[in-house]
Amino acid sequence: PLTPVILSGGSGSRLWPVSREQYPKQFQRFNATEHSLLQETALRLTGLGGVHDPLIVCNEAHRFLVAEQLQEAGVTPWRILLEPCGRNTAPAVALAASQVANQDPATLLLVMPADHVMIDAPAFQAAVDQSRELAEQGFLVTFGITPDKPHTGYGYIRRGQPLSAGHRVDAFVEKPDLARAHAYLESGDYLWNSGIFLFRADRYLEELEAHAADIHHACQAAYAGRREDLDFMRFDAEAFAACRSESIDYAVMEHTRRAAVVPMDPGWSDIGAWDAIFELKSDLAAQGNATRGDVMLHDTRNSLVHSHSRLVATLGVEDLIVVETEDAVLVADRSRAQDTKGIVEALNTAG
Ligand code: GDD
Ligand code: MG
Repeated sequence: PLTPVILSGGSGSRLWPVSREQYPKQFQRFNATEHSLLQETALRLTGLGGVHDPLIVCNEAHRFLVAEQLQEAGVTPWRILLEPCGRNTAPAVALAASQVANQDPATLLLVMPADHVMIDAPAFQAAVDQSRELAEQGFLVTFGITPDKPHTGYGYIRRGQPLSAGHRVDAFVEKPDLARAHAYLESGDYLWNSGIFLFRADRYLEELEAHAADIHHACQAAYAGRREDLDFMRFDAEAFAACRSESIDYAVMEHTRRAAVVPMDPGWSDIGAWDAIFELKSDLAAQGNATRGDVMLHDTRNSLVHSHSRLVATLGVEDLIVVETEDAVLVADRSRAQDTKGIVEALNTAG
C-alpha cells in the first residue's frame, strides 16, 4: 500500500504579486489554464496502481481552499492535516507519517510538493513503480533530475553504488553556494533532488529520531494532542509551535545513510519564481516572450508579461518580468527573479 502525502504549506513569495499569503501559488493556475498546481499534483496520481486516497498537509488558513479545489478536481482526500503554523517540511511529513504509521507502519509515503509541474506524468508514475521495492526494503528514495544549470535553490545528490532501480546516495547537499553548484554540475556525478520522496512511514520516523530527535518529539506531542472531525485533523498547537522549523532535506536527507536515488525525466520543474514560468512558457516564435492575458508587445524580447486585470503594453524592452494584478504591479529584470522574496519581506515589515 502507498499513501500519497501532498505538501501544500508554502507561501510562494517569489511569485509575488500573484502568489499571496491568503492565496499562494499552489492554488493558482500557472501552467494549464484548467487546473491549479495543487489539482495537477493530485491528478498526477491517477493511473498509479495500489494507491490510497491522498493525505494533504497544509496551513489551517487554507483549509477551505484545499477542500474546494480537491473536490472540484474530483479528488477525495483521505484526510486534510492542518498545521497551526508553518514549521517547514520535516515536521509536516512527521505529522503525516505518524498518522499513517498509526494504522500500518510499513505503509509507503509518497511525499509530493504541491508546486511542481510535470509534462510527462506516466514517466513519473513509472519511476514511482520502479522505486517501490527499494522503499519497501527500507531505503528513503528520492527522485533525481539531471541538472542543466548550477541552480542554488535545489538539493544535489551524488550517486553511489548501483541498486536495483537506482543508486545509493553518497552525499546529499541542500542548496549549495554557486561555486559548489558549478563544481557539482561539471562533475556529472550529481542529480538534483526533485523534492519528491518515497519511504516507509516507520523508516522516516526512525531517521528523524536519529538525526533530529527534537523535531520528532515535538511532532509526537503535537500528534498525541490531535483532534479530528469529518474532513480535518488538527494538532496540539502549543506543542507544534515549539517545534524547530526545518526542511526534510536539512533534517534528514543530508544525514541519513539509508537514502537511494532513482533518476526520472518527466519534464519536471519547480515553479519557484517567475524565471521558471518564463522558461516553461517562453515562445521562440514570439520573440522568446511568455505572455498571459491582455498584453500588447512591441519590439520586446525574452520577457514575461502577464496581465490579470488591465491592458499591459511594452515597447523596446528585453529580459523583463512584468506582472500586473489588480492592486500591485511587478517590473523586474529577469535575472533578479529570485529576489522578489525581498519585496514581500519589506512589505510585511512595513505592515
Ligand atoms: N505543509 C507544509 N508545511 N508544506 C510546506 C511547508 C510547511 O511548513 N513549507 C514548505 N512546504 C511545501 C511547499 O509548498 C512546497 O510544495 C514543498 O513543501 C517544498 O518546499 P519549498 O519551500 O518549495 O522547498 P524548496 O523548493 O526550496 O526545496 C525543496 O525542493 C527542491 C526541488 O523543488 C528541497 O527538497 C530541495 O532539495 C529540492 O531540490
Ligand atoms: Mg520549491
